[in-house]
Amino acid sequence: MIIAIDGPAASGKGTLARRLARHFGLAHLDTGGLYRAVALRVLAGGGNPADAAVAAAAAGAVAAGDLADPRLRLEPVAQAASVVAAIPAVRQALLAFQRGFARKPPGGEPGAVLDGRDIGTVICPAATAKLFITATPEARAERRARELREAGEPAIYEAVLQDMKDRDARDSQRRAAPLVPADDAFVLDTTTLDADAAFAAALAFIERKLAAQPPASPG
Ligand code: C5P
Repeated sequence: MIIAIDGPAASGKGTLARRLARHFGLAHLDTGGLYRAVALRVLAGGGNPADAAVAAAAAGAVAAGDLADPRLRLEPVAQAASVVAAIPAVRQALLAFQRGFARKPPGGEPGAVLDGRDIGTVICPAATAKLFITATPEARAERRARELREAGEPAIYEAVLQDMKDRDARDSQRRAAPLVPADDAFVLDTTTLDADAAFAAALAFIERKLAAQPPASPG
């Protein structure tokens, strides 16, 4: 069982992915962390995230252990992540890790929830259920600014909104795996939904999908 969740930053897809993984006993991979890890390696080495050769080398070196680094959450890392993510060689280098995780989750779970930008379109096109989570840029910027303030970081709403729009534009307009809903994705707008309502709507869709699946053949 594979659940693919895509959508822009701060749409609520990460919270939803974790909750669905817990509900179904599946593994969870936040694939944005992989692009952030590539960006962090490039920045830490003093490199330019737009340099394809440097970014591709960093992508080749990324390992599961990189995903625990707290610096991955920093805004300059997020911005650099969306720059390295537009480089096809970077996406290619991260493909096998993501597909391997989905096919054979590291904890032996019976499946996985992956969240990102291209899970339903590129990484797991045959996923059991695909969701595309979205919200207005203003609602997403408000959430992100609140999260930052709660973490004790200063946050100016207008600056957060501008960063969000810049990243949306880069992610949606790039040629390599742009941010678009898969044709068969359930599109969920969380602008006026809280986390519980978003979870209930997503769960109802996934349960409809599971009920419509042909029963597994014996043996
Ligand atoms: O989801 P998160 O904000 O951590 O993602 C950081 C960046 O990584 C995104 O802005 C996007 O450019 C890139 N990304 C991607 N494909 C994914 C996940 C993230 O291009 N599957």
